[in-house]
Order: sequence, then structure tokens, then C-alpha cells
Amino acid sequence: MQCSWKSMVLLALASIAIQYTAIRTFSTKPFSLLCSVGLAPTGHAVNCSLKDLTRLGQETPEGSDRGCDEVSSHTPSSYSFSLPSYNASKRTHILILATTRSGSSFVGQLFNQHPEVFYLFEPLYHVQLALLPRLAQSRNLAERRVMLGAARDLLRSLYHCHLSSLESYIRPRPVNHSTDKLFRRGASRSLCSLPVCQAPLSSEEQNLVLADEGECVRRCGPLNVSLATDACRAKRHAAIKTVRIPQISDLRALIEDPRLNLKVVQLVRDPRGILASRIETFRDTYRLWRLWRATGHRPHNLDLGQINTVCEDFLRSVSVGLARPAWLRGRYKLLRYEDLARFPLQKTRELYSFLGLVLDHSVEDWIINNTRGSSDLSSRQKFTTVRDSAANAENWRVKLSFDMVVYTQTVCQPVLELLGYKTVFHPRELRNLSHSLVEDRTFLPFF
Ligand SMILES: *[C@@H]1O[C@H](CO)[C@@H](O)[C@H](O)[C@H]1NC(C)=O
Ligand SMILES: *[C@@H]1O[C@H](CO)[C@@H](O)[C@H](O)[C@H]1NC(C)=O
Ligand SMILES: *[C@@H]1O[C@H](CO)[C@@H](O)[C@H](O)[C@H]1NC(C)=O
Ligand SMILES: *[C@@H]1O[C@H](CO)[C@@H](O)[C@H](O)[C@H]1NC(C)=O
Ligand SMILES: *[C@@H]1O[C@H](CO)[C@@H](O)[C@H](O)[C@H]1NC(C)=O
Repeated sequence: MQCSWKSMVLLALASIAIQYTAIRTFSTKPFSLLCSVGLAPTGHAVNCSLKDLTRLGQETPEGSDRGCDEVSSHTPSSYSFSLPSYNASKRTHILILATTRSGSSFVGQLFNQHPEVFYLFEPLYHVQLALLPRLAQSRNLAERRVMLGAARDLLRSLYHCHLSSLESYIRPRPVNHSTDKLFRRGASRSLCSLPVCQAPLSSEEQNLVLADEGECVRRCGPLNVSLATDACRAKRHAAIKTVRIPQISDLRALIEDPRLNLKVVQLVRDPRGILASRIETFRDTYRLWRLWRATGHRPHNLDLGQINTVCEDFLRSVSVGLARPAWLRGRYKLLRYEDLARFPLQKTRELYSFLGLVLDHSVEDWIINNTRGSSDLSSRQKFTTVRDSAANAENWRVKLSFDMVVYTQTVCQPVLELLGYKTVFHPRELRNLSHSLVEDRTFLPFF
């Protein structure tokens, strides 16, 4: 019989996790994020113009980060933080904890491109769709708890390569472990190449299939979940990207599971940049913000919750991470998207050191190819990683009106300070891109 003691243990763990979340949710007081704009932040701008950054990506991996490194006074130490002793043959599970439009597709690619990593792009999409079909981003606490309990269970199963657990959330329900409805299947190399994709492809066609998500879906046919499971087992490590887990503490049950060896990369980005990018991408949800930008007047019924949630989740999560609790030791790394955009190779190396994984040259090649800021191959796609790369990390500064920036800063002041993003006080300051709004900060992992 399949329903063994293991299932009972899983059930027990799941209920503990759900209860834990309940307690956590009710015991934290609502944060008051509406503070007035505070003192002028100090610290000097990094001496790297956006042009320099774009150029960086084109140079050879060796020494290519040096140019910017040397002029920024605080970063060199971050390059060589001490490494824990690790056993590279131990299976490592990686979670990219992010929010929409924070550069998570880009970070996902840093693992997707690694030949020994099995990468899944946003599998929790299906949980959300199945459990909360009408609410894209529920702020209802009870619903969030149910979602999170299910999400944690699914993540655990997926890391153990039980991909069939995902099937119960996919609509329509897969038949014979085969589906053509897996969300963004084409974003995962493993699911678009042998042995999962069994279409006979020339090496040229294979490259196209790996570069273009739609092409993968067209050429590879329905996904055979059994084959995907085998592919997952054959890889040494697994990485999952999600924008559907609000805070690091929501993952505590998984992080504390010694059999899982889970390491979390929390990706953050300047909330003003997230806002600008969302306004472009989610046109319906952010319709009133566009109206504001177009008319110069803030609509009275503007939904503040959207940006509030981002800042509140960042603030709570990062505060926990930076407080270095024992349960996060060796398991948490904070990454600012802007740092990755400025020093893509250096930051990727740091990321891999933290994880105890060997950085593969195919990852470095991918970075070099994709931080140029121009590529016509994928410019058609809505969620292209290229569009979000180095040259664009600070382009929100020309996309938001000054009023919108001030408003967002006010709402998000505590988190801007915590993460080292500078407040602007004048439109001239906002638009002058040769003056960076990202303070030099190092966020070292702790072991
Ligand atoms: C690493 O782990 C593997 C498998 O558990 C083991 O065979 C190997 O000896 C370990 N290597 C080191 C250096 O500890
Ligand atoms: C599923 O598999 C069974 C047995 O192999 C077969 O009879 C059935 O037609 C398959 N269903 C679909 C929808 O392919
Ligand atoms: C999926 O792959 C397995 C293993 O090769 C095979 O036995 C099974 O028939 C395939 N399923 C479908 C629906 O093609
Ligand atoms: C990088 O670009 C070159 C030239 O377009 C291409 O041959 C190579 O396969 C690309 N590498 C990666 C990892 O994308
Ligand atoms: C932009 O900022 C730089 C550095 O802070 C400053 O030297 C320059 O004068 C500014 N340009 C304008 C047009 O304000």
C-alpha cells in the first residue's frame, strides 16, 4: 500500500506548518509603513555609468568586473568572503524567493543554464490557480495560509523529484502523466531537451528550442511527466523560482528539514523599479497608475495595497534574514537585483560560492551573451530576461513621474533604508542617471 508511515509524517508536517503560519500571521502586528520621508541618505554613488555596465557584460569572464569593483569602495570584501567547507556531491536544493518584476527570470537563468541543475520556473502558479482561481494576489489571510501550506508541500515533493504531485493542480488534469498545460514549460532547459523532449532535432533546432519558449512547446509536444521525473533525478541539484511565497519565514519548515538541504536566495529590487516594470507589464491591474502618469493627477481610488505588499513583505523578510537567526545559518543569501545588474559575473560567482556549487562556464557564457542589453531573438517576448538586464535596472527613473516616485518612497521608506536605495528629493536628481540611487552595501551570507 502506498499510504505508508511516510504519508502520515508528511501530513503531520503539513499540519504543523499550517499551524505555524497561522500563529505567525496572528502574532505579528501590522507594520505602519506610512512614515514621512526622512533624512537625506548619505554615501557616494558608484562610479559606474550604465554604459560601463552594459560594456562589462561583453568582456571576458576574467577580470571583467574589475573596472567597477575598484572604484566602488565597499564592495571588494564581498568578492572573497570565506567559504564554508562543503561537499559538492551533496544534492543542493535552491529556492529563488522573489516577487514579480524583480528580475527573477534573470536569476532563474543563472541556474537554468547550469548543466547539472534541474530548474523549474514558477511551478506554484498551478497551486495558486487551482486554489485561488479568481484572486491573482490574495491578501486574505486565511486564503494565503491554505495556499502556503499547499505550496510548501508541493515544493518539498518537487525537490524530491515527485513531479507527479504537480499533476493534481494542473487544469485540465493530465491524462497518462502527460500534459501540454505546464506553465512556462519552455523556460526550463531540462524540459526542452533530451530525454524529456524526444522530438528529433538537429543541433541548430535544439538551440532554437532552448532559446524560444514557444518553440519548445511546439516542437517537443506534450510533457511526459514520467520522463521529466527521470530528468530531475538524473541532475545533481534542483532549483525552483517562485514569486508566490511572500516571506522567508513562510519557508521555515522546509529550511529546517535536514533531508532537504534547502538554500534560499532572496532577490530584492528597488520597489520603485518594481512598480515601473509592473505598470508596463500588468496593464489592467496597474491601470490607475498609468492614468496617474498620463494625467499628472493621482486617482483617488488608487490601489495602494499592491506596492504596500511588496514593501511589507521585503521589510519583514529581509529583517528576519539580516537578524541571522540560527535556522537560517548557511541557508540564506540576500541579493539585490541592481548589484547583479551591475556586476553580473561577480555576483553570480558569489551566489555559487554561497551554494557550494561549481559555477559552470555555460552559465558565464550565458551572462556574457545576455547582459548586453540588446538581442532581437527574444525581444518579442513579454518576460524576456534580456530586457531586464544591466542597462535597464535603473530605467524606472525615466519612466515614473516624480510624484509617483515620491509617493512610493513615502510608503516604502523603511525598506528603502534597509536595502540601501536612496531617496530622491528633486526631479533633477531622479533623472540624472550618472548619479546612482543604489548605495554600496554588502549583504554577506552567514555560516
Ligand atoms: C561527499 O559525499 C559523498 C556522498 O555522500 C561521499 O561519497 C564523499 O566521500 C563525500 N566527499 C567528501 C569530501 O566528504
Ligand atoms: C492512456 O493510456 C491508456 C492505456 O495505455 C490508453 O488506453 C488511453 O487511450 C490513454 N489515454 C489518452 C488520452 O491518451
Ligand atoms: C512517457 O514516457 C514513459 C517512459 O518512456 C513511457 O513508458 C510512457 O508511455 C510515456 N507516456 C506517454 C503518454 O507518452
Ligand atoms: C552565446 O552567443 C554565441 C554567439 O551568438 C553562441 O554561439 C553561444 O552559443 C551563446 N552561448 C550561450 C550560453 O548562450
Ligand atoms: C548629474 O550628476 C552628476 C554626479 O552627481 C553631476 O556631476 C552632474 O552635474 C549632474 N548633471 C546634471 C545635469 O545635473
